Amino acid sequence: MPVWRAPSRHGVGRLPLVSVTAPALRAHGITALRGTRRVLHGLGLDVPAGRFTVLLGGNGCGKTTLLHVLAGLLRPQAGTVQVAGQPQSAYARRALARQLTLLPQDATAPARMTVRELIQQGRYPWQRWWQPNSTEDERAIDEAARLTDVHALLDEPLADLSGGQRQRSWIAMTLAQATPIVLLDEPTTFLDVAHQISVLTLLARLSAQGRTIVAVLHDVNQAAWFADHLVLMREGRILAQGTPAQVVTPACLRATFDLEAHVARDPASGLLFSVPALPARSGRATP
Ligand SMILES: Nc1ncnc2c1ncn2[C@@H]1O[C@H](COP(=O)(O)OP(=O)(O)O)[C@@H](O)[C@H]1O
Ligand SMILES: [Mg+2]
Repeated sequence: MPVWRAPSRHGVGRLPLVSVTAPALRAHGITALRGTRRVLHGLGLDVPAGRFTVLLGGNGCGKTTLLHVLAGLLRPQAGTVQVAGQPQSAYARRALARQLTLLPQDATAPARMTVRELIQQGRYPWQRWWQPNSTEDERAIDEAARLTDVHALLDEPLADLSGGQRQRSWIAMTLAQATPIVLLDEPTTFLDVAHQISVLTLLARLSAQGRTIVAVLHDVNQAAWFADHLVLMREGRILAQGTPAQVVTPACLRATFDLEAHVARDPASGLLFSVPALPARSGRATP
C-alpha cells in the first residue's frame, strides 16, 4: 500500500529509502601493512556517493593500498570499511562485486583475448558458470563498449590494439560489471593527452549519471578540472580534502608534494591550474 509522506523541510515530497547523503564508502581508522611495513596510519575517508573523487599524492604514499582496502582486496590490520552503509565484511564476495569494482594499475590479460571476451569478464558477479550470457549481459556489454567507444574493436585481440584502445577496453570491462561504485588506479597513465581527457570526460559523465567514481591520478590540473571531491594523501595519511578550489592551493601542493607552485584560473575557460615555480635559468630568454 502506498505510504503518504509529508513534504520534507527541503521540499522533497517522496523520500528515498536510503539517504542520498550517505557516503558510498566510509573508511574509518584504517591501518594497513604491506609486508611488514605500515603503509596506512589510522586513515579515515568518506567517499561521497554519485561524485567523482580523485586521490592525489606522491609515489608510495599509499594510494593503491587504500584502493585495495576499499575494494576488499587487502584486509587492514585495524579499522573498518563501510560500503553503501553496510560493513564490507557483511558482504559475500559476489555481493561485494555487485557493489564495487577496481580497475588495477597493472591489469593484464592473455594477449589473444578479444575485446569482447575481456568485457565479458566483467559480468562474472552476475553470472553462473553453467549459464550462457543472458540478454542483460549482452545489453551491459553493448552499453560498456558504446560508452568507451570500443564497439568497432570487439573482435580484435587485445595484443593488436594501441595503448589507448586497450585501456578503454579495460574500462569497458569495469563498466560492464554494472556496479554503483567504480575504483580506478591510474586509469590515464600511458595514454596520450587526448585519450586522457576522453577517459576523464567519460568518468565525469558516469558520475553525473549517479555512479560513484574514485580514481588515482597524477596530473594535478586534470584532477582540478574533473574531480568533484579531491583527496590529498601523504605518507599513509590524508592531508586535505574538499573541492578543487579548496585544496588546489600553493599550501596544499607544498604539503603534499614538497612542490612550490602558483595556482591561477584560466580567464578563458575559468579552469583552475597550477604551474611549478621553477628557479630562474640564467641565459634563457623568456619566450
Ligand atoms: N607487496 C609489497 N611489499 C612491501 N611493500 C610494498 C608492497 N606494495 C607496496 N609496498 C610499499 O607500500 C608503500 C605504499 O605503496 P602504494 O600503496 O602502492 O603507494 P602509491 O600507490 O601511492 O604509489 C610504498 O612505499 C611501497 O613501496
Ligand atoms: Mg599506486
